[in-house]
Amino acid sequence: MNMKDENKNQNQSEDTLTNRQGHPVTDNQNVRTVGNRGPTTLENYDFLEKISHFDRERIPERVVHARGAGAHGYFEAYGTLGNEPISKYTRAKLFQEKGKQTPVFVRFSSVVHGGHSPETLRDPRGFAVKFYTEDGNWDLVGNNLKIFFIRDPLKFPDLVHAFKPDPVTNLQDGERIFDFCSQSPETTHMVTFLFSPWGIPANYRMMQGSGVNTYKWVNKDGEGFLVKYHWEPKQGIRNLTQQEAEEIQAKNFNHATQDLYEAIEDGNYPEWELFVQIISDGDHPELDYDPLDPTKLWYKDDIPWHPVGKMVLNKNPENYFAEVEQAAFGTGVLVDGLDFSDDKLLQGRTFSYSDTQRYRVGSNYLKLPINSPKKNVATNQQAGQMEYQVDHGKGQNPHVNYEPSIIGGLKEAIQEGKDHTPYVEGELKREQIDRTNNFKQAGETYRRFSDFERDELISNLVDTLKSCRKEIQDQMIENFTKADPEYGKRVEEGLKNAQVDENTTHRGPIGATDTERAVHQAE
Ligand code: HEM
Repeated sequence: MNMKDENKNQNQSEDTLTNRQGHPVTDNQNVRTVGNRGPTTLENYDFLEKISHFDRERIPERVVHARGAGAHGYFEAYGTLGNEPISKYTRAKLFQEKGKQTPVFVRFSSVVHGGHSPETLRDPRGFAVKFYTEDGNWDLVGNNLKIFFIRDPLKFPDLVHAFKPDPVTNLQDGERIFDFCSQSPETTHMVTFLFSPWGIPANYRMMQGSGVNTYKWVNKDGEGFLVKYHWEPKQGIRNLTQQEAEEIQAKNFNHATQDLYEAIEDGNYPEWELFVQIISDGDHPELDYDPLDPTKLWYKDDIPWHPVGKMVLNKNPENYFAEVEQAAFGTGVLVDGLDFSDDKLLQGRTFSYSDTQRYRVGSNYLKLPINSPKKNVATNQQAGQMEYQVDHGKGQNPHVNYEPSIIGGLKEAIQEGKDHTPYVEGELKREQIDRTNNFKQAGETYRRFSDFERDELISNLVDTLKSCRKEIQDQMIENFTKADPEYGKRVEEGLKNAQVDENTTHRGPIGATDTERAVHQAE
């Protein structure tokens, strides 16, 4: 008699409720008690197991980007870069052939607040893509905005602390934010985007994505190129004014998750085209910024965008926790033909992601189906919490969990292209880069905004800055003036005119304004 027949005998079918030990549960309504009024007894194994598992349902949420939504889909390569085969620039297999499809999982997110915070907040949005390629996984962990606040990873915990709620009041506080930003002039460019309508994308489907950091591509000869990645939504780009965001938030604080989920359920699959900007490897003294500086845009007019593929999201997750919550992305997750640049922020990030994931999800986080590559994995890593299968290769001698060996075990792969071997020398020091140029692009961005975007920017800045102490206001005005004299003047005048409510004790979150404007629709 096999197990199936046995189950039949016990009146069990596939939908019979069991506990995790496989024992059928015959009463899921009543704990075992002495008499029907209690007390309960300690040998209530089913109850104790059920409640103890429930007690452990939460894992720590992400320290940043806690609120998110995800979807599955595919990436389809174009095979060329401009008029040339893409192989001239990268040997990464996923890009080579026109029409080649690679499965992807994408997680969109907001950054500062917790797992159930409103999706209407002024905040950068995360745009993280996991490509399950034939050479293993590639993660492109980006944001919607194309630049970042800082360029040195040592400052990241301070940046995040300033934007997160006050450790005493647990309230987000504009004064703490501008205290940090006023003393970190490299943030001026990002602040200019964040307080404009670009700081509140209308939803996840209608926003751009960007790798932000500079990466490298490597061809078969080992030649490296500097690249930046950009996702452009085929649905168009749409941002919200503060007023519109508040109206949505009053009724629905899940609108972006809902929009993405419903669009995919309705078969209205969102698509993005992937563009790269590519320049030779080197420090490019002809530019007035460092090409490795993530606070800078590479202007399209100087460095063209080339389409290299498109992405379609066509399947919702089957389970939010298993897929979206436990998904783990990292900037170190690259495949052959893709590489890091010397961008310091990128290198700091690369340590941080897998470090936090070992804590947040567990040491075997890469064994979860959402994180594990869709190809054979064969390592000599072993054990650790929740290990459930050994990932040695097919036919491997199970006694040989080390390498090298002449009696069995795994063998090194054969290198397919030449190594990229940049030459590095210099004094070991703590110093910022030469071409910091903290204000010029912030001024350019201010001038490139439409009138409506500039008005909204000034109004949002004034509304948050008006409750900050004078030294902070003055320093921010000085920074904006260095970006563009008109920009500084308008913030200064706005602050003079602003009426601070004497009775207000809470200095308030970023961006609450009373402007009334139409939906912003950028081309
Ligand atoms: C998430 C660190 C800069 C985009 C995270 C997480 C950490 C982190 C610890 C949580 C990861 C997890 O729990 O799985 C850092 C550090 C940075 C940095 C140390 C700078 C030194 C950036 C930048 C971008 C970015 C510049 C945009 C290009 C993201 C995204 C997520 C994330 C999209 C969410 C990924 C997901 O959906 O799971 N970051 N970050 N981060 N970060 Fe960063």
